[in-house]
Amino acid sequence: MNESSQETSNRVEITDEELISLTTAVKTRYGIDFTSYEKKSLKRGFARLIARNDLGSMVGLWSKILKDKEFLIKYIDDLLVNLTELFRNPEIWLKIKDDILEKLRSKPIINIWHAGCSTGEEIYTMAIVLKEQGLLLKTRALATDLSTTALETAKQGIYSKILWKKYSASYLTYYPKGNPEYHFTVNENDIVVSNNLKNHVTFLRHNLVQDSMNKKFHIIFCRNVMIYFDETLKMKVLKLFYDSLEDDGFFIIGYYDMLPEASKDLFVLYDATTRIYRKNKLNT
Ligand SMILES: C[S@@+](CC[C@H](N)C(=O)[O-])C[C@H]1O[C@@H](n2cnc3c(N)ncnc32)[C@H](O)[C@@H]1O
Repeated sequence: MNESSQETSNRVEITDEELISLTTAVKTRYGIDFTSYEKKSLKRGFARLIARNDLGSMVGLWSKILKDKEFLIKYIDDLLVNLTELFRNPEIWLKIKDDILEKLRSKPIINIWHAGCSTGEEIYTMAIVLKEQGLLLKTRALATDLSTTALETAKQGIYSKILWKKYSASYLTYYPKGNPEYHFTVNENDIVVSNNLKNHVTFLRHNLVQDSMNKKFHIIFCRNVMIYFDETLKMKVLKLFYDSLEDDGFFIIGYYDMLPEASKDLFVLYDATTRIYRKNKLNT
């Protein structure tokens, strides 16, 4: 999601007080809790909403959001940047293939959760890796996000062809002998994920801030989501991941995600290059 330079220059300044009163009102009225999101990113998100919808100021945004519930749901993606890619950071997928999946191969079922899956590119990447390793059939893959529009795109698995060259190059870095076209129908303007990958993924709306999870997973991905959260919220969400991870499971975060010092009680670093952690068993 690129911001035009005009939007950037027209950006409305939002004060801390305005931000706090708006997020508190949204929480009370709609039950969507942004009150502990990192302030700078959230202010940028609200400023984007104002610019893209010609609302002029925080007052305009305030009245639009509080009068029209559909507005916030429809434009939540402008608030939460949901950039993602197929085969983003190929070295992670190599590490997963060569190391992690080998450790999990003997399990009767492999449970995986992509928290904050956005439009689905990350989980379809995982599904491709699993399929090529002969493990897709025994995997249960859950992908969740707060944004219903992102989830709709994810379920359809149809992406613009503009990035196909980049995606193919990333895939070939991961697997030089492979053929990326094997997993997609490549049309004139778009690429469509093959049904046998789609059929193995369950997409669900889930808010990491408020919702519980009553399953255990062997791998949890939460990449580039916690960048929006303040330290207290991060710890709350990390506790949810800790409780949802099998004792021998793996927790994978994004390159720009910073874990709070206190999270050392929950997770220990497994591989620094790819930001992979394991459960800290001293805490169990
Ligand atoms: C930058 S995308 C990350 C996509 C993918 N994990 C990746 O790294 O390629 C961040 C996603 O986090 C989601 N998100 C933000 N707050 C959330 C919350 N409280 N619960 C669930 N998802 C959330 C956004 O809707 C967005 O789709």
